[in-house]
Amino acid sequence: MEQLLTVDDAERLAEQVVPTDAWGYIAGGAGDERTMRWNREAFSRCRLRYRVLIDVSDVSTETIVLGTPVSMPVLVAPMAYQQIAHEEHELGTARGAAAAGTLMCLSTVATATPAEVAAAAPGAPRWLQIYVFKDRGVSDEIVAEALDAGFSALVLTADLPVVGIRDRERREAFDTPEGAVPAFVAARARAVGGEAALRLLDAGVEWSYVSELRERHGVPIVVKGLVTAEDARLACDHGAEGVVVSNHGGRQLDGAVASLEALPEVVEAVGERAEVYLDGGIRRGTDVVTALALGARAVLVGRPVIYGLAFGGAKGVQQVLEIIRDETENALALLGCRSPAEVTRAHVSTTLL
Ligand code: FNR
Ligand code: LAC
Repeated sequence: MEQLLTVDDAERLAEQVVPTDAWGYIAGGAGDERTMRWNREAFSRCRLRYRVLIDVSDVSTETIVLGTPVSMPVLVAPMAYQQIAHEEHELGTARGAAAAGTLMCLSTVATATPAEVAAAAPGAPRWLQIYVFKDRGVSDEIVAEALDAGFSALVLTADLPVVGIRDRERREAFDTPEGAVPAFVAARARAVGGEAALRLLDAGVEWSYVSELRERHGVPIVVKGLVTAEDARLACDHGAEGVVVSNHGGRQLDGAVASLEALPEVVEAVGERAEVYLDGGIRRGTDVVTALALGARAVLVGRPVIYGLAFGGAKGVQQVLEIIRDETENALALLGCRSPAEVTRAHVSTTLL
């Protein structure tokens, strides 16, 4: 077995075991994949300003997100159809995230139900990501099941009114295999599979839906997939307690701004009113501390978690998350910080960003 020291090692291990068509879906992005590349490149344009001669003999990566303690400022991003990566699917991800002590966000188009995920890792913190179906009853049912099962926040993904054009996926003619239809859709005997489920989504959702969610469910609402101060303000005006600065990992609008580049304006606009998270291109602990320095409360990781799941099920997910956690701890110490809360804007120079 090849060595597993970094997230890039995890990617290579995963590529060896995932069928080519599923790989195109997982690893690919939209269009020319410019935004997907920019998400990574933006990190190399930030320069860390570390401080010295500070006692860092006791560093903790622990933090709190929307009142929930987690082992690190790194959460598991919602990702669809995990059955295509490994037979343990979302249950493996749930167990791996729980073992690493962090929170998982379950996708609406998951291949396991919220109740199954809750049972797989009892007591672990988790959020539900929401896509809104034209038949609102379907969305309502999945939310009700998740809240019953103890999910503590709802994450409305706002950047997928329609699905982006993903060439790798199209070239490989990706379709989700038999048995990988979203469980809750299948449970309601909607005979749709794969991307077909995404065609049932409502492209007409507007900001009022955020207030509606807030009023109906009484749990914190997070809006995921925005990249502007304008939208971050609207999210807060409609009752969101958190926002995820994200372009969907470069899978939606190609040419969209890198998420890290968008982070400062969002933090400036709503940093006092909401928790700001970021995802897109996080592969290293140094990426995590860079996002913290620019004002993120925590980051979400997407593809790295699927890579771990693909080569090692729950264990692989745990390994990947622990690699990122260990690197984050190391980066904190070398930055002169004992905790995520000690990382400030002064720890990063963005003259190149
Ligand atoms: C996603 N993403 C996503 N987001 C969401 O809100 N609901 C979903 O169902 C999915 N599905 C999905 C599947 C796969 C295979 C990937 C790779 C991504 C986007 C995801 O939550 C996150 O925004 C990005 O993956 C972050 O970028 P990185 O960490 O993959 O670079
Ligand atoms: C994706 C959707 C399902 O990015 O969020 O594939």
